Amino acid sequence: MLVVIKKDYDEMSRVAAMFVRDRLLRKPDLVIGLATGSTPLGLYQELIRMHKEEGLDFSRVTTFNLDEYLGLKSDHPQSYNFFMRENLFKNLNIDPHNIHIPDGMVKPAELDEYCVRYEDAIREAGGIDLQILGIGRDGHIGFNEPGSSLGSRTRVKTLTQETIRDNARFFSRADEVPCYSITMGVGTVMEALEIALLAAGETKARAVGVAIEGGVTAQVTASVIQLHRRVTVFLDEDASLMLKRKDYYNFAAGAEEDFEKLKS
Ligand code: F6R
Repeated sequence: MLVVIKKDYDEMSRVAAMFVRDRLLRKPDLVIGLATGSTPLGLYQELIRMHKEEGLDFSRVTTFNLDEYLGLKSDHPQSYNFFMRENLFKNLNIDPHNIHIPDGMVKPAELDEYCVRYEDAIREAGGIDLQILGIGRDGHIGFNEPGSSLGSRTRVKTLTQETIRDNARFFSRADEVPCYSITMGVGTVMEALEIALLAAGETKARAVGVAIEGGVTAQVTASVIQLHRRVTVFLDEDASLMLKRKDYYNFAAGAEEDFEKLKS
């Protein structure tokens, strides 16, 4: 696991975008797993800039979003579908047919089958090459709240009260935040060929500390990335505050950069 710590959010977002660009240039038909939330906004803005100013091409890219609130229509301003269109897709030359976001309006009786089909679609696309993740204060990835099976697949998940409170900032009232979501499972995420997890701000420091340096546990679903073969964690200084081996991560990230230069 490579842990890249940058001085602030903007720098972290820029470096993460360079990382995505590198993968995209190597594989123009990249299949990317995407997260919503405030953390990847800077990354998305930088990718849009790269598209507009440098001609970074997304025409052959396929995307799969991690999750969606159950009960919100795709045009609801707080739906993840709306978020993705506003904050990323409408500014890129991505083919709308290649965009996949769980549908929050699937009828309850059809949900199980729908979730299986979402997984099928990922497989049919050749699997996810690069999964972008944020992390919740309780260590969740996607909406895989503490206690989610580390082998879980795409399914309906009940949000914790903490996540509902955290996400209430985007709604006018806390009781408007849906209680349920459709989310890719931890097992689904782990099948991606590569994972990039981003975290910024002091409020994430504890979750980052336990996810990276604690034991692997379903109580902190992000900790499962310790078992993945190719993970890069992008942090700002504040999110790295509780890491004990920070000096080594900085040393290793620098050494890795030097090694990449030697190879090219
Ligand atoms: C959303 C998602 C969530 C968020 C997490 C952090 O698609 O996957 O796991 O990444 O809740 O959210 P922010 O970035 O808003 O702090």
